[in-house]
Amino acid sequence: MQHNKVLILDFGSQYTQLIARRVRELNIYCEIHPFNKIPSDSDSFKAVVLSGSPNSVRGEDVLHPDLSNIRGKKPMLAVCYGAQYLAHFSGGEVAESNTREYGRANLGFVKQGEAFFENISEGSQVWMSHSDTIKKLPSGGTLLASTADVENAAYKIEGEDTYAIQFHPEVYHTIDGKQLLENFLVKIAKLNQDWTPNAFVGETVDALKAQLGNDKVVLGLSGGVDSSVAAMLLHKAIGENLYCIFVNNGLLRKNEFTDVLKQYEGMGLNVKGVDASARFLEALAGKSDPEEKRKTIGAMFIEVFDDEAHLIKDVKWLAQGTIYPDVIESVSATGGPSATIKSHHNVGGLPDFMKLKVVEPLKALFKDEVRRVGASMNMDKELLGRHPFPGPGLAIRILGDLTPEKVRILQEVDAVFINNLRSWNLYDKVWQAGAMLLPVNSVGVMGDERTYEKCVALRAVESTDGMTADWVNLPYEFLQKTSNEIINKVKGVNRVVYDISSKPPATIEWE
Ligand code: XMP
Repeated sequence: MQHNKVLILDFGSQYTQLIARRVRELNIYCEIHPFNKIPSDSDSFKAVVLSGSPNSVRGEDVLHPDLSNIRGKKPMLAVCYGAQYLAHFSGGEVAESNTREYGRANLGFVKQGEAFFENISEGSQVWMSHSDTIKKLPSGGTLLASTADVENAAYKIEGEDTYAIQFHPEVYHTIDGKQLLENFLVKIAKLNQDWTPNAFVGETVDALKAQLGNDKVVLGLSGGVDSSVAAMLLHKAIGENLYCIFVNNGLLRKNEFTDVLKQYEGMGLNVKGVDASARFLEALAGKSDPEEKRKTIGAMFIEVFDDEAHLIKDVKWLAQGTIYPDVIESVSATGGPSATIKSHHNVGGLPDFMKLKVVEPLKALFKDEVRRVGASMNMDKELLGRHPFPGPGLAIRILGDLTPEKVRILQEVDAVFINNLRSWNLYDKVWQAGAMLLPVNSVGVMGDERTYEKCVALRAVESTDGMTADWVNLPYEFLQKTSNEIINKVKGVNRVVYDISSKPPATIEWE
C-alpha cells in the first residue's frame, strides 16, 4: 500500500523535526530533506512544507532553492522563514522587523470562512520567533490573518493551494497548531490519515519478508527499546532466521543481563546471551580516560559480536535499530548543509570484514513512534518505557578507572535509585535516570566509627531527545529516603548528592 507522503524542506530551523512529528501524529507519513536537496522523486510527495530557519532571506548565507517545480503544482505550507522566502521571491518584500518578535501572539482573522482556519477560534494563541517580517505580500497573495505586532501573519496565494504563516504551528505553545496542520493536510491537500502503527507493522513485515526471503539475519540486542522493537518486527517476518545476540559487557545494570535475556526468550526470539564481562573488564583495567574507555568498549563489542556472528553459518544481513533522528541530514545553522549523517552511537564502527548487508526496519521512525509500534505488537510496557542507557553502560558513570568492586557498588546504588523511582511512580515522569560513582572519598561516621568512603551522585533529567535536558525536581522526601537506603544498604558508600545541572552546559552522563 502506498501512503501519501509529505515533503518537509529543511532550512535549518531548530523546530524542523517537530514539524515532522506533528505531521506523523496526524497519521500522515512525511520525510525531511535539506532545502537544497529536493528529492528527485518529488512527484511522489503529495504536499510540501517549508520549514523555518535561523537565517534571513536578505542575508549573505542565502538559502534560496528553486521551487518552480513544486510551487503551485502541489499544496504547500510555508512556515516562518518559508513564508518570508515565498514572499521575497514572488514580488513581496521582507525587511528587518523593528521589534524582534518572539513568543506569544494572538491571531486575528482578516478573511473569514477559510478552510485553513476551520475549528480555530479568533484570538487563538500562536508562537512567533523571527526577526525579519513580511512588509508586502507576494503577487497573488491574500492576507488571511494578523496579530497585534505582525500584520502579515498568514496569507495564501490565489489560484494555488499555497499557504504561508509567520508563526510556528509545530510548537505546543501554538495552541491550535495541530488543527491548522490537519486543516492544511487533510482539508486542503486531501491526504489520507492512514499511516498508523498497525499499518506500519503490517507493511514493514511484508517488506522484510520480500527483502530477506530465506536469508539469515544477525542482530545485536542491547536491552533498549530500539533494538528490541526492530527484533520483534524481524521476528514476525523471518522467525528463526533472525539470530539475536545479547552481550553482557559487565557494565549493565544489576541483574539486567539475566532478566532481559529471559524477557527476550519469553517473546519467542531466537536469542543467545553471551557473557563477556570478564573480557571487557580485563580490557578496561587501568584505563581512566573517558574516550579511551569508550573506544575499548566499542572495539571489544565488535570483537565479541563478530566472534558470535561467525558461528552463524551463512548469515547475510546485519540488522540495526537505527531510528530516524540518526539518519536525518541536518542543515547547519550557517545555512551550508552540513551533510553529516550522524553515525549510530553503538554500531557505527562495525568492521568491513563482516561484509553483511544492513537492514534497518526503524529508520523512518521517531522514538515515540518506535514505542507505539512496539505497543501495537503487544510488547511489554516496561520494556518499551525503559530509559535510554548508554552503550558503554556503567563505565561512563564510574569516573576514572574501573574495578569489579566499583561496578558492584554502582550497580547496587543504581538499583536502589531506579527501584524507588518505580515504586514512587516517578520512573515514567523522568526521561533518564542513573547514578554516578565519583572518584572521591569523603569522611563520615557510621555508628561510632569514622568512615572514609565513596560518594555517589544521582542524576534524573527530563528531555525529549537527549540533546538538551534539565534536572528533575524530585520530591525531597523521595531523595531523603533513597539517600538513606543507599547509605544503609550499599557497603562502601557514605555520601549521596543530587545533580542539579542542566544540559547544556553539563552533559547527562558525567563522562
Ligand atoms: P550526554 O552525556 O552526551 O548524553 O548528555 C546524551 C545521551 O546519550 C547517551 N550517551 C551515550 N550513548 N554511547 C551511547 O550509546 C555513548 O558513548 C554515550 N554517551 C552518552 C546518554 O546516556 C544520554 O542518553
